[in-house]
Amino acid sequence: MNAKLLFSAVVVLICTQFSACGRSEVSFATDVQPILEVACLECHTTAGEGTAASGFAVDDYDSVMKGTEFGPVVVAGSSISSTLYMVIAGKTDPEIRMPPHHEEAWAEGRGVPLADEEIATIAAWIDQGAKNN
Ligand code: HEC
Repeated sequence: MNAKLLFSAVVVLICTQFSACGRSEVSFATDVQPILEVACLECHTTAGEGTAASGFAVDDYDSVMKGTEFGPVVVAGSSISSTLYMVIAGKTDPEIRMPPHHEEAWAEGRGVPLADEEIATIAAWIDQGAKNN
């Protein structure tokens, strides 16, 4: 088997293992930040209630990577290890799903979960290394 063929075989193999491979590169500035601005910034800006309660702000790349007062919420390369992904994908206790969409928040008319496509975009950005691109 020549080297080129071997390389293609390896790429195919890796891509069947990791779904993030099926996407072209996700950009923080173009793809991720606009989602956070619409769904999260209202509460997670410097003076927002979400930031006051958790220390987590989404104003820019650096604040997203800094995480909460307890530490980072993004583990570059692993969405399933990242709190940021867990809270938006509804994989945590209902009380801390983000945007807040537990029953109380729902009743107040606030907190609609992100669309599957938006969740997948953020997961892919993390899996691709959470770059400042
Ligand atoms: C209506 C206000 C509001 C919105 C909108 C909101 N949050 Fe929050 N967020 C909070 C509050 C309040 C807390 C702290 C208390 C809690 O955990 O429920 C919090 C906590 C968090 C935490 C820390 C969780 C932990 O306990 O470690 C993360 C991460 C987070 N939010 C991400 C997001 C993301 C991402 C979005 C947008 C998709 C978002 N939030 C939208 C209010 C909000």
